[in-house]
Formats: sequence, structure tokens, C-alpha cells
Amino acid sequence: MPLGSTRHVHPDEDPSLGAVVVTDEQLRARIAELGVEISADYAGRELLLVAVLKGAVMFMADLSRSIDLSVEMDFMAVSSYGSATKTSGVVRIVKDLDVDLAGRDVLIVEDVVDSGLTLNYLRKNLAGRNPASLEVCALFLKEGIQQVEPDLRYVGFRIPDQFVVGYGLDVAERYRTLPDLRVYVGGSDRK
Ligand code: IMP
Ligand code: MG
Repeated sequence: MPLGSTRHVHPDEDPSLGAVVVTDEQLRARIAELGVEISADYAGRELLLVAVLKGAVMFMADLSRSIDLSVEMDFMAVSSYGSATKTSGVVRIVKDLDVDLAGRDVLIVEDVVDSGLTLNYLRKNLAGRNPASLEVCALFLKEGIQQVEPDLRYVGFRIPDQFVVGYGLDVAERYRTLPDLRVYVGGSDRK
């Protein structure tokens, strides 16, 4: 396969990809468990799921359907200044939520917590809009690298501090549609 080809390379043959960190079966099973837990915790309430585009899209789609309650969804888009694979902590809202959070039970659906800076900003920003409650469900938590212990109500998987792609996570918009989570080893702009 020539470099720059747009043809699909099988993930197992892609030299930029390393080991599978979380399989698609593990994702399915854990997300089903999270759905059961969230359904019990929010029983009788109307939940508003808020995801940040685009990394959390796959997780939002699967998690929302594993929750046995009437849920609403909303999305926002942020851009963080920094290199492709490292956050600076300076976040700008590119697309804001459509709904008013006042009095709502809000659950932030996050793809991955790395430094925790993005989530920290988001939490403060959304808390200022007077929701009845505000919690976070993060699919992946990189272990031991946050300066302040992140306040996460639900965590899918604790993973080592490696740059990973798949199941929504990208590097320069690639690999989001991989069904599993894999280590990214290729490229020049990584940690
Ligand atoms: P943080 O502010 O350092 O916690 O970074 C959070 C955001 O950076 C995530 O929501 C992702 O969009 C992105 N990110 C962090 N680590 C990874 C990774 O390993 N792969 C892909 N995206 C990542
Ligand atoms: Mg993200």
C-alpha cells in the first residue's frame, strides 16, 4: 500500500497502530454495565447526556442506548490549543449546547481523560449554568497523570498513559471508526 493512499488498511497490518488496549467485546460489555448503573442511579429522573464532539460520538451512541430511561442528548464542540496529541488546557467553545441546563440532571459523556484539563474547563463552564446535578461518565481514564484527581462519577476503563485511537478517538481525524481501542505508534507529533 503506497503512503498517502486512501484505501483502507486493515488495522492489524497498519504500521502506525500497536496493540489492542480494549477490544470491541470489552467495550460492549462495559458500556452495558455502565448503562445498568446509570439507569439505577437516575431512576425516575430525566437525564440529559452531553457529549463533546467528535471523540465521544461512538460512546454517546452506545451508552445512550444502554440506558433504560428517557434520555435527551446534546453536543458541544471545543477546540483546545496545542499539538495534535497534547492538550494545552486552553479551551475554546466552537459549538455550544442547544439546550438550557438550568434545573436539568446533566451527565457529561467523555471519551478520554488525559491531563484532565479539558474536562476541568468543561465542568466549570457547565456548572455555571445551574444544572440540578452535574456528573461525568468517562470511557477511558489514563492512569496516574492528572495533577488533580479528576471527579468522575463513572469510569469505563483505566488505561496506561499511551496515545490511543479507535472507537471515536482520532489522530488528525483518522482511526475514529476502528471498532476497538489501539495504541498509536506512528506519526511525528506524538508525546
Ligand atoms: P485532556 O484535556 O488532556 O484530558 O485531553 C482530553 C481530550 O484530548 C480528549 O477528549 C481527546 O479528544 C483528546 N485526547 C487525549 N488523549 C487522547 C488519546 O490518547 N487519543 C486521542 N485523543 C486523545
Ligand atoms: Mg475529545
